Formats: sequence, C-alpha cells, structure tokens
Amino acid sequence: MIPKHQSVERIATACSELIGGTPLYELARTGSGSRLLLKLEQFNPTGSCKVRMAREMILAAERDGKLRPGGHIVEPTSGNTGAGIALVAIERGYKFTAIVDNHASRDKLRAMQAMGVNLVFAESKGDGPSTVARRRLAGEIVEKTGAFWPDQHYNPNNNKGYACLAAELLRGLDTDIDYLVGAVGTGGTLCGTIKELRRLGSKVTSIGIEPTGSIIFGGPPGKYWQTGAGAPGGFTVGPNVDHSLIDEGLTVRDIDAFTAARVVARRTGILVGGTSGAAIHIALKRLALVEPNSTMVVLVCDAGEKYLDSVYNDEWLRERHLLDDLAHLRLHRLFDAYRESIRLASCTLAAVGGQT
Ligand SMILES: Cc1ncc(COP(=O)(O)O)c(C=O)c1O
Repeated sequence: MIPKHQSVERIATACSELIGGTPLYELARTGSGSRLLLKLEQFNPTGSCKVRMAREMILAAERDGKLRPGGHIVEPTSGNTGAGIALVAIERGYKFTAIVDNHASRDKLRAMQAMGVNLVFAESKGDGPSTVARRRLAGEIVEKTGAFWPDQHYNPNNNKGYACLAAELLRGLDTDIDYLVGAVGTGGTLCGTIKELRRLGSKVTSIGIEPTGSIIFGGPPGKYWQTGAGAPGGFTVGPNVDHSLIDEGLTVRDIDAFTAARVVARRTGILVGGTSGAAIHIALKRLALVEPNSTMVVLVCDAGEKYLDSVYNDEWLRERHLLDDLAHLRLHRLFDAYRESIRLASCTLAAVGGQT
C-alpha cells in the first residue's frame, strides 16, 4: 500500500477537464543543434486541438447570454470543430446540429454521430468541400429555429481558445520558439497561438500552410483532398485568418502532405492527420536551412486514426493518383540525412576535442 501522503489523486469528473497538457515530441534534429518538435494536439479529448476553441466559443456565448440552458447549437464543420462542440454540448446540456458534407472523413462523421450529434448534409458538388453550401444551410436553419451559431470563421473566441496552447508551449520549453508551423482553415489555431505567444514576449516567426488549390494565401482554386484546412474557390475567408500574424503562407500538395503523414507513421508509430502532414512536409524541408540551434514547432491538429480510410489507405490514394513511392523514398532519405548530420557533427566535435 502506497503511503497516503505520497499519492495525489487527479481524476477528471468532466471530459473537458482533460483538454490541454498535450505532449511535445522531437521528430528531427540537425547536427547544428536545430530541432523540429511536434505539439501532439491529437492527445486532447476528441483527438484534435479544435476542442480548445469549441469550449471557448460556448463558454463565451453563455457569458454573453447568447446560449441559454437547454439551447440549440448549429455549426458547419469538417468534423473536428463539430466533435469539440459535441463534447462541450454534452457536458453543458445543449442540442447540437452539425452541418457537414461528404468531403469530411467518414470517421469524423461517425464520431460525431456516436456522441449523439444531429448531422445535416449540405449538397456536395463533386468531391470538394461544400464550405459555401454548408454556411448557407446553417444560416437557413438558424433563421428557422433561432439556434445559436458560434460561426468559427468569424467568432473571435475561436482564436482566443488557443491562448492556453501558447502558454503551454512556452511552459514546455526552456527556449523561445523560433518557428511555428501550422495548417490554416479558419485561422484560429495558428493566429490565436501566435498572437498569444507574441503577447507573452516570443519572437516567433509563423508559417501558415494550406492545401494547394485552397485560396487563403491567394493561389488559384483547385481540387484538394486535405480536410479541415484551406478554403475552396468562391469562399470568403473570414477575419480569423489574420494575415498580419502570418509571416509566410505556403501551399502543399496532397501527395506531399499525405506522404509526410505516412512516413512519420512508419518511422515513429505516431499517426497524424493529412493537414499536419502538410505542415511537417514544410518543416522538414526548412529545418536544414534555419539558423543553428533553432526550435521549430509544428502544431499537429489531429490524429491520423481519423483518416484510416483515406490518408492511410493505399487503395484510396491510388484511385486519386496520390500514392507516390518516390516521394516516400525522398522523405525517408531526408530523415536519414538529419540523422547522419548529427553523427557527423559529433564526429567533428570528437575530432576537435582530440586535437586540443
Ligand atoms: C484537420 C484540420 N487541420 C487544420 C485545421 C485548421 O485549423 P483552423 O481552423 O484553426 O485554422 C482544421 C480545422 O478544422 C482541421 O480540422
């Protein structure tokens, strides 16, 4: 029996108490002392960072009197925001209708259903995300029912929900963060985290990532299969994408995003989602180019287990011409090169040490 004074019971009585405190993992390091860290936000309840902002939006709506006991929430979602709202709605006694489409991963839809969410499908044209149609349908339902629409693209509490993530990042490191890389959809995760990091004194440089074919950073519209991040042609990007907080905005092809996710899974046993794969793709390429001893952090938005039917399914990828053995090989080589650069650096150090 452990003596009473040595055991401290920490048992949650509400699932939302388990939000945050997600781990940092070193994915790669260079011989020059720079490191690439992953903030593994899939360790939050619902398997995504978005539960942080779902909680913030709902608590703020209660404070502002926009949500009353037993109220009804409506939100268009690709799934992660929906799962987050579902969790908070369960705890606080709200009904939740999620407006979804068939571009979303099937497992995200199934997870929301498992939590008792009412799913309403917006009309999909082809395989692309129906972001515009989803918003239109949400507006119609809100008009008819008087339900509360948090509206993640326009709600400032989306971005504020990540203040806790910024503080957590700094607490978990003994240096500043030099580069923060994250996928951008509504903009909440990256812009909310960056804003708070800078308020806390960080000199961090931010790199926003969207799928090639998404229009947030001004590129031409096109088809993409990464879900959650990006905005399709015809969509009006909301103010939560605060361009003044994003130092660089880059696009990543589906092939590169999914290859990175799959190679990380093979090399580490950690499964990340496709948009996190995109951010990791850029971060891995950049790591060799940054100043020595830099700390680069990728925000991993969600768990790869949500994409077993797509990103991690060879058949699904092959049908869409997204399985590229050469791209896999190139990325493995890059990981090997980082490992080799550490070996060479330590040999050089040993040689220099031997001379003195
Ligand atoms: C998988 C995934 N990646 C990236 C994002 C983008 O996050 P944000 O909307 O905070 O910009 C989302 C948003 O839902 C997402 O679900």
